[in-house]
Amino acid sequence: MRRDGSLVTGDGRRISILDLMGFTEKQALARETADVNQYTVYGGSRGPGKSYWLRGYEIERLLRWAAQGHRHVRVGMFCEDYPSLKDRQISKLARMPKWLGEVKSTQDDGLGFHLREEFGGGAILLRNLNDTTKYQSAEFAGIAVDELTRNPENVFDELRGSLRWPGIDDPFFVAATNPNGRFFTWVRKLWIEHDFPEHLQAVKDRFAYVPALPRDNPYLGADYWNMLDSLPARLRAAWRDGDWYVAAEGLVYDAFGSDNITHQEPELGLPFEIAVDDGYSPDPRAILFIQRRGSSVLVFDELYHIKFLEEQSIRALLDTCYQTAERLDPRGRTWPDPDGGMSNDALARALLDQGVPIPELAAVSHEAPALRRRLREANIPARNWLSKKVRGGGSTRAAAVTTTRELICDGRQHRTIQVHQRCRNLLDELTMGYKNKLGPDGRYLDEPEDGNDHGAQALESWVWLRMGGA
Ligand SMILES: Nc1ncnc2c1ncn2[C@@H]1O[C@H](COP(=O)(O)OP(=O)(O)O)[C@@H](O)[C@H]1O
Ligand SMILES: [Mg+2]
Repeated sequence: MRRDGSLVTGDGRRISILDLMGFTEKQALARETADVNQYTVYGGSRGPGKSYWLRGYEIERLLRWAAQGHRHVRVGMFCEDYPSLKDRQISKLARMPKWLGEVKSTQDDGLGFHLREEFGGGAILLRNLNDTTKYQSAEFAGIAVDELTRNPENVFDELRGSLRWPGIDDPFFVAATNPNGRFFTWVRKLWIEHDFPEHLQAVKDRFAYVPALPRDNPYLGADYWNMLDSLPARLRAAWRDGDWYVAAEGLVYDAFGSDNITHQEPELGLPFEIAVDDGYSPDPRAILFIQRRGSSVLVFDELYHIKFLEEQSIRALLDTCYQTAERLDPRGRTWPDPDGGMSNDALARALLDQGVPIPELAAVSHEAPALRRRLREANIPARNWLSKKVRGGGSTRAAAVTTTRELICDGRQHRTIQVHQRCRNLLDELTMGYKNKLGPDGRYLDEPEDGNDHGAQALESWVWLRMGGA
């Protein structure tokens, strides 16, 4: 090992540590990213060389630390269980050239891949996560998790607690994953959506995601591509195309995917409407803000209120109108009612006077007479809709679901409905919570179950009232 970061290979060639693994371009990008971010996730699809990168990156970092004088450093490689660890990593590390190091089991460290002494004697300790006694209270200068979405969130918190090594001030956490493991939600929240809980706020700038697709890996053979291309549509979208929004089974809107999610803002000069699913407690009142733009329908904001009186919700929605106008066209307007004494009617008129548009119409999913009256008082015309049984079976609700499906993705892959990323509750419903009933034979029926459907029902009502059907 030389301080300049080069080493001599088994056949006597001097090469740079960074050339040892022969990373692809995406893998090299993941390296650069992980070098400067503490928590890096690589991949989000099947086959871009995730497992290869994880072990390659750990070997490299051990060699680079050795070049700086840090010897016998330990890093960890984790999978959800032992068979997976063996399949993805142990079997591959066992085939690394002997002049570099070898897989062996030692008294102190258990199973690991050990670099030879002349390369610093560092080791990748191989661990499976379903046996917590094997890693708790251990210390690692680096941690790699292969298939992170197969592990629940507490695994991340526990492993972070083990990330330290005397004398090393740049420990790393790297992970690679498909987008659809059983526990994908928390990974998607942190790395894809940058939605951090309170306890991670202080470190949120240290998270980085490097997406990679199978086509970024020139080493995949024709068989592999045949497998990817012949997968059922949802699995193909996840594995081949790296879609993080198609994972859950039995969703009412199973075609809803990342192409339905947008950062686009509404056009301030164009009219917009709201859709409401009325509720008080425990069910929320869900309010969506919707604008039609050419051939698309943009859901650009949402409110979910629990235990809100009608007038409180309407005041909050007028506030959202004000915030939206200020965000898109900041004129330093002032909120007309700082003391909160104005009626919603007066408030709505004051906002209009300041050039703040308010909804032209409300589509309401229940009878909700009190809400409709209050909306009218605030100059927002309201129309309601109740699902009815139709002759020959089925219901108008089922018909509204069918129409909404078409707007989410039609037969020609056109996606009329676009939802802004800020609509967290609606997105959670559409991509995770809003499911069909499970039939007695274990198959999903084409009939939504009650529950996580508040924003979705508001949307269906709006579609029914404004886009055909009714
Ligand atoms: N940089 C590379 N050089 C040579 N082969 C690679 C490289 N990266 C990946 N591969 C090969 O590509 C295949 C898929 O890689 P793997 O890491 O198993 O993918 P993933 O974990 O993303 O599904 C494996 O055969 C692996 O050895
Ligand atoms: Mg893998």
